[in-house]
Amino acid sequence: MRSPLAPCLLLVACGGQPTWHQDVAPIVEARCGSCHTEGAVAPFALDTYEQAAGMGPIVAAAAESGLMPPWFAEDVRAYSNDHSLTDEQIATVVDWVAADMPEGDPDDPGEALPATATSLPRTDLTLSMPEAYEPVGDPDDYRCFVLDWPEATDLFVTGFEPHPGNDALVHHIAAFLVRPDNLAGQGAFDQIRGWDAGSAGPGYACFGGPGSSETEEDLRAPIQQLAQWVPGGGAFVFPEGSGIEVPAGSMIVLQLHYFDQTDGTDLTTIDFMTEESVARKGAFAPWLDATWPLGNMEIPPGGTDIDKVDDPRDFWQLMTGGLDLEAGFDIHSTMMHMHTRGVGGSTWIEHADGTREDILVLEKYDFDWQFNYQLAEPARFAPGDQLGVECVFANDGDAPINWGEGTLDEMCVSNLFVTEL
Ligand code: HEC
Repeated sequence: MRSPLAPCLLLVACGGQPTWHQDVAPIVEARCGSCHTEGAVAPFALDTYEQAAGMGPIVAAAAESGLMPPWFAEDVRAYSNDHSLTDEQIATVVDWVAADMPEGDPDDPGEALPATATSLPRTDLTLSMPEAYEPVGDPDDYRCFVLDWPEATDLFVTGFEPHPGNDALVHHIAAFLVRPDNLAGQGAFDQIRGWDAGSAGPGYACFGGPGSSETEEDLRAPIQQLAQWVPGGGAFVFPEGSGIEVPAGSMIVLQLHYFDQTDGTDLTTIDFMTEESVARKGAFAPWLDATWPLGNMEIPPGGTDIDKVDDPRDFWQLMTGGLDLEAGFDIHSTMMHMHTRGVGGSTWIEHADGTREDILVLEKYDFDWQFNYQLAEPARFAPGDQLGVECVFANDGDAPINWGEGTLDEMCVSNLFVTEL
């Protein structure tokens, strides 16, 4: 049993129980509202007192267990987009439910909490899916759409904000950048256009990345991530003076994960902020063992942990469009990517003096919630340091699992946003 004194000590004025309007609504609006509103991704709304009170006990249980809001980073450092509940906020929700959910005075609402999702300060360019799409999978449909980057000169993207066309359908948006100077050159463009042309309807089926999940073919060249979004996410404005180079003639592959289909169509767009030049180039840089995609990532029945600890700078020369990482780099965010057998993972720097600096430790991994965890303060990688990535997999089948694009294959990547110094 929770001590009746505890809420007094924590937050809520002694002598008064927490009420909806003064104490709970501000928390629910700021930390649950982006998903639990009419027509959004969550299965029920928590917009009104009646709705929240009707769900009281399961709301308290979800908050107390940490199930909601979905946020899986352990407290190893501060993240600027952290939307998890503090212990005090959890206690307020739990105590409100224990007091039988008093409504309080609607004319005396509590103060709103600051939002964790941000908007772009300005939009210079909007890319849209070529046409509206009606998802067909049941319950999931993973679809890639091919877009031409419309600008005739080389530019730098300095921030982005995806806008799902249909909040009830879209569970994940990713944009991949295919530069004209990618390792396979025109071959990568031809391959992707071939998948698009060979598939009925707009786009083609793809799962973990931009590779087709309808064929056995691997994508001919590694390509970079340009933008990503999951419900509750907003804009990502890159650190002052930095941006991702997007050369004229690039292609963008827009990947959508649709789930829980009700009838409906989607027309998703992404806003970009751009500059003609930046002081420091940045990139989403994928950290993994280059031999894993060649079949060297066997996950035996039962499961296993795999890791890679090394200096990533040579590998990233090929992957990031030529960042100058000679003097080291700053890490601003990471998003870990596995498929459905991933259960945890971490990313860290092993500094030259032997100390370990955690970038991200996932207490749990969920394919549906691939958040980009944005570091409140960047982490500095200096020459002599090493970068570590570890993925933890469970395999409840009786055959080994290996790297691949399909839902039954796996991947292990830490996708970091890094900038030159
Ligand atoms: C980022 C989006 C998002 C946010 C933020 C969020 N939820 Fe959810 N919630 C969902 C989705 C989606 C589901 C459906 C189950 C799933 O996909 O995990 C869900 C399911 C639930 C459930 C049902 C869980 C069950 O037992 O099946 C409860 C209760 C809940 N949310 C409460 C909350 C509360 C309370 C908050 C805020 C403190 C919150 N959620 C914040 C997206 C969100």
